[in-house]
Amino acid sequence: MARVVQLWKRQGQSIGFVPTMGALHAGHLSLIQKARRENQRVVVSIFVNPTQFGPKEDFRKYPRPWQRDQKLCQKALVHALYRPHAKHMYPQGFLTFVEVSRLSNKLCGQFRPGHFRGVATIVLKLLEQVRPQRAYFGEKDFQQLVIIRCMVQDLNLPVTVIGCPTVREADGLALSSRNVYLNPQQRSKAVHLYRGLKAGALVARKHGSKVTHVLSQMHKEVRKIPGVRMDYLKVVNPKTLEDAKHLQGPLRLVGAIRIGKTRLIDNVAIFC
Ligand code: PAF
Repeated sequence: MARVVQLWKRQGQSIGFVPTMGALHAGHLSLIQKARRENQRVVVSIFVNPTQFGPKEDFRKYPRPWQRDQKLCQKALVHALYRPHAKHMYPQGFLTFVEVSRLSNKLCGQFRPGHFRGVATIVLKLLEQVRPQRAYFGEKDFQQLVIIRCMVQDLNLPVTVIGCPTVREADGLALSSRNVYLNPQQRSKAVHLYRGLKAGALVARKHGSKVTHVLSQMHKEVRKIPGVRMDYLKVVNPKTLEDAKHLQGPLRLVGAIRIGKTRLIDNVAIFC
């Protein structure tokens, strides 16, 4: 991978990189299309990264439709599909991890200890191997995007991180590789997370609204989902991920819920 990129760079071509765990959907394809528009060469990686899954999480059953993914990349005119092997990414005796402290322990980090350490570590390794000018990440994983931006800045990595808008189904459900776990009944419930966030955003726009009003509206909506378990619903500062005290400036409404065994996350930007 490094050799191919080196050759392209010597020819003066710019490299856009889309790291993924495969099971590609329209959200990934929108990242690839943006990367194609902004670079001469596009590299996509597919690696289901074991270190970002907890011991009780879905690493084993995470979807791996390799042939379908390969075809989608071909159709999307990706120049290189990089599928490293776990034994090369994590050779025996592997001990080195990247920790983006503070940002990693909040929100999803509280419910998935070690998750963002695994994400930051693998993204750093992939960036180091591919050495793109630009790397593309979906805003759906908003905390991941904030953490990667921080890591890139802190470690002076020579790459521009580009966040891309969430792609949604017609009813608003954010696309995710994990949506395949939902049965039809759970699928119809899943959209209420986004509805709850949108309801919160509507309250935030009303004159005189406070953070507490927004939160109670979001909770009211999401609690309506039968059998839902809520990890969190919050209004946060989009840079620090700290709870917002006032409805002022750019903010993010963020949420994570569980329906059955499936964990769903989503977020909505507001400006007050
Ligand atoms: O968002 C993802 O698919 C993964 O977390 C990433 C960035 C590819 C790292 O494994």
